[in-house]
Amino acid sequence: MNLDAYRTRVAVTGGAGFIGSNLLLYLVPLYSEYLFVNIDCLTYAANLANLSSIESRDNYRFEKVDVRNAAELTACFDKYRINAVIHLAAETHVDRSIDGPAEFIQTNIVGTFNLLERAVSVAKENPGFRFHHVSTDEVYGSLGETGTFSEQSPFGPNSPYAASKAAADHLVRSYHKTYGLNTVTTNCSNNFGSLQFPEKLIPLMIRNATERQPLPVFGDGLNVRDWLYVEDHCRAIDVVFHKGEAGRTYNVGGGNEVTNIDLVESICRIMDQMLDGDRHEELIRFVEDRPGHDRRYAIDSSRIRDELGWLPKYSFEAALRATVEWYLDNDTWLESCISGDYRKYYERMYADRLSGEK
Ligand SMILES: NC(=O)c1ccc[n+]([C@@H]2O[C@H](COP(=O)([O-])OP(=O)(O)OC[C@H]3O[C@@H](n4cnc5c(N)ncnc54)[C@H](O)[C@@H]3O)[C@@H](O)[C@H]2O)c1
Repeated sequence: MNLDAYRTRVAVTGGAGFIGSNLLLYLVPLYSEYLFVNIDCLTYAANLANLSSIESRDNYRFEKVDVRNAAELTACFDKYRINAVIHLAAETHVDRSIDGPAEFIQTNIVGTFNLLERAVSVAKENPGFRFHHVSTDEVYGSLGETGTFSEQSPFGPNSPYAASKAAADHLVRSYHKTYGLNTVTTNCSNNFGSLQFPEKLIPLMIRNATERQPLPVFGDGLNVRDWLYVEDHCRAIDVVFHKGEAGRTYNVGGGNEVTNIDLVESICRIMDQMLDGDRHEELIRFVEDRPGHDRRYAIDSSRIRDELGWLPKYSFEAALRATVEWYLDNDTWLESCISGDYRKYYERMYADRLSGEK
């Protein structure tokens, strides 16, 4: 391929996962002058079929590369003369990080380190080399009844997942301060939308409700999350990647604080309207709380709004309804996610949760 036809050649890591797929579906058609190289080692959370509508585009390539493997990364960066990174590849499920943190350390910390090393090396010849690190609000820990996380909030990660992301955020910061790498970091709240692996709350509840299986809700269900529709997150990444100030971090949130129980009840109500049969709320079961479960997250997004002009476009209610509809229309996609070995994990996790029913 003629690499010179593309002035920006972006490695998007984790592009076969939930946010990565949505991001590539958004960016690839929008920026035909950029080459997008999807770097993903295809863990259980990946699904290349998500990208079928863009896979034959000239400005898109997929490479099965593990960010834990520095040699594979070097070969891939050389092959495409990569001059920008949007880094999403990660182990992402908090419950799995409690069961087995080792992979989280390797992928989220060592993988980020490998990418930063590669970026610094390439940036010597490409001084503008942009490194966008996609991170989470979970690095800040938990809030009480009031207040929000700003970019000045101290880090206080409570799960191995959050700690591994916080470590990666610190590494990114240090590569800017020490080596002058052109970095930006986005710390985003909980995303929802299509193509999310059904171990996460919203698709898990929709799938179980369609099967008329119990809907396990941790603790008293009053933990609060600030939900953001994934397309709004993709637009935020686009804005920060292009306009964010080097070395700066940007919090991204939807301003939609909802308790877990309210969210599950809303999903049930939407499903009652869309499907015939008994009320779905009857399936809700309160189960033993997750260890170290953060009580409340809320994001102050004023920096990205005021400095870069980003605003969420979708209302929570409309986006939730569209999301439920998408999973109901794509039940074969949902089932394909939990086929094979993953089904055993999924069934064990699910049985474990219900065994702690209160
Ligand atoms: N989902 C959310 O609500 C949310 C919120 C804020 C930030 N984030 C961050 O956004 C990013 C993407 O999250 P997601 O929900 O799409 O995750 P996901 O679990 O759906 O996808 C992760 C992707 O990374 C790939 N991957 C994992 N380990 C890899 C490795 N060693 N080498 C190469 N690829 C690897 C997987 O194959 C998968 O395609 C993560 O960095 C996450 O921390 C997620």
